[in-house]
Amino acid sequence: MCGIFGCIIRDGQAVKLITDGLKRLEYRGYDSIGVATLLDGELHVRKDMGKLEEVVEGQRVNEMMGSIGMGHTRWATHGAPSMVNAHPHMDGSGNIALIHNGVIENYMELKEELIEKGHTFVSRTDTEVIPHLIEEELKSDIGMKGAILRVLRRLKGSYAVVVLSTHEPNRIFCARHESPLVIGVSDNGTFCASDVPAMLPYTNQVAYLRNGEMAVMSLDGYEIVKVIDGSAVERDLEEITWSLEMAEKQGYTHFMLKEIYEQPHSLRNGLRLQEQYLNLLTQFLDMGKEVLLTAAGTSYHSCLAASYIFSKLSRLTTIPVVSSEFIERYGSTVGIDSIVLAVSQSGETYDTLKAIDHARMRAGTVLGITNTVGSTMTRVSRAYLIQQSGPEIGVAATKTFTSQVMVLTQLAMRLAKQRGKLSQDELDEYEKKLKLIPDWVETVIENSAEAIEALAEKYQDEKLFLFLGRGISTATALEGRLKLLEITYVPSLAYPAGESKHGPISIIEDDVACVFVCPRGETHAHIIGSIMEMKARGARIISICEEGDEEVKRLSDDAIEIPKGIPEELSPVPYVVPLQLLSYHLAVLKGLDPDMPRNLAKSVTVP
Ligand code: F6R
Repeated sequence: MCGIFGCIIRDGQAVKLITDGLKRLEYRGYDSIGVATLLDGELHVRKDMGKLEEVVEGQRVNEMMGSIGMGHTRWATHGAPSMVNAHPHMDGSGNIALIHNGVIENYMELKEELIEKGHTFVSRTDTEVIPHLIEEELKSDIGMKGAILRVLRRLKGSYAVVVLSTHEPNRIFCARHESPLVIGVSDNGTFCASDVPAMLPYTNQVAYLRNGEMAVMSLDGYEIVKVIDGSAVERDLEEITWSLEMAEKQGYTHFMLKEIYEQPHSLRNGLRLQEQYLNLLTQFLDMGKEVLLTAAGTSYHSCLAASYIFSKLSRLTTIPVVSSEFIERYGSTVGIDSIVLAVSQSGETYDTLKAIDHARMRAGTVLGITNTVGSTMTRVSRAYLIQQSGPEIGVAATKTFTSQVMVLTQLAMRLAKQRGKLSQDELDEYEKKLKLIPDWVETVIENSAEAIEALAEKYQDEKLFLFLGRGISTATALEGRLKLLEITYVPSLAYPAGESKHGPISIIEDDVACVFVCPRGETHAHIIGSIMEMKARGARIISICEEGDEEVKRLSDDAIEIPKGIPEELSPVPYVVPLQLLSYHLAVLKGLDPDMPRNLAKSVTVP
């Protein structure tokens, strides 16, 4: 998501360090840049949309003076990329500047409250409420630290924030909850950044802020307190031994691995959807005579998983269709009664945009789910939701799939509620389980990472893989297979398990690897039948199954266990994670670069 850098230094101009720091945060992806410095008790802010060099040149950022300042690279989540939406954001008096990474869930109610008190807002961001809230709290004369603490206690959602103010011009205030923030100290001063690489050329002595902590930085170092009660926290500096390149990947060997491990975090963000848009999309879905889900690649697999979820939870029939086939297949029937829900991480995929254009031309209603605010998809959709997974750099989509499924599931649940298709108890139960998904994914990663690495070693010379799942797990199997194909180039097939005896079973002979996705649920008995069929023909069975599923484990050569209690309808997210990791390790063992598979582009913007 957004990148943050702040510093207070003894010698030199802060702006030089800030722009260098932002340069090293560029790999996170961004659409706008902003810098603030404090000089002689006055705040100076320059910002704009565009690449770092363009904004630095266009806004003459290098001319900004002062030994204390901060900079921001923005990845839009609320409000399109534009100069006014770029950070820093100011309070009404112009004495407080703030940069933010994260999503403030309750910003609408806070904004209404502030508007009633006479505040005016210039941007469409969630962030702008924070400096205004600080301005309000300062009226009770409690100083910057006290005011910021009070405000932080009111925020719901995720944040890493850095605040500069003319009220206390020799200090930087920063805090975090669920978005990363690290503090660094050198002989020349004190730094904060969303990632170590930004400050690595100046210091390798760092202290990580933890959730719910705030730090007050000065030339003398830093003081950390807990947001909840203002109590002091002792945190010693630690030494970073990573190279700059390693630090960009936060110590992971590849972006793909980093992004797989990031999923608990991106999924928590995916639970913070904007209520009004969730409701709006739900209403449109409820109105349509037919609902077509369209996307390409991984995003299509999200649609396929969603078609099961819409059917089971909301009793809505949806038709998933690969976007490159959309016009041929439904182009002459789509019309005024059709809802077309298009899904695209980039929001720029050519085929998906073509399908959207066609549907709009025939008066269909187009809804979108994308990761990219300001993308073409957000401009051409009637209403859209942002999947909130942050920039994905690895070419193979990982957190994209899990976040999209998370968003689509929330839509299905909202629709089920609106249509009265589930009882309140059932809805509450799904809601409870949905919130547990990020934790489950965390557990899967923690518990199975080593076992999957060993599995990859065992199967590294395998010539052919077959991925099978039944029901919603068909989508999981297809996505697991796509990952393998993309980054290891090993031939593979994926099928609904029940379909395997209508053809794919013919390729089974001794030692062909069969990967079964088998959560507990309605499909369980059938999938056991399929495992037996394959095993009887000599296949080696790898299962992704529920913890303690002895029946499946007995039939399998290798099994990766997923925590108990996950409803089958919610299984694709935790069950796909071992498949992502397996492909990753197989690619590395083959000496391939999983971040840059041959012949593939992150965003396919051509026919
Ligand atoms: C798979 C992958 C691609 C994309 C596809 C659609 O790992 O990355 O298959 O999923 O190109 O891209 P978006 O979602 O940007 O439309």
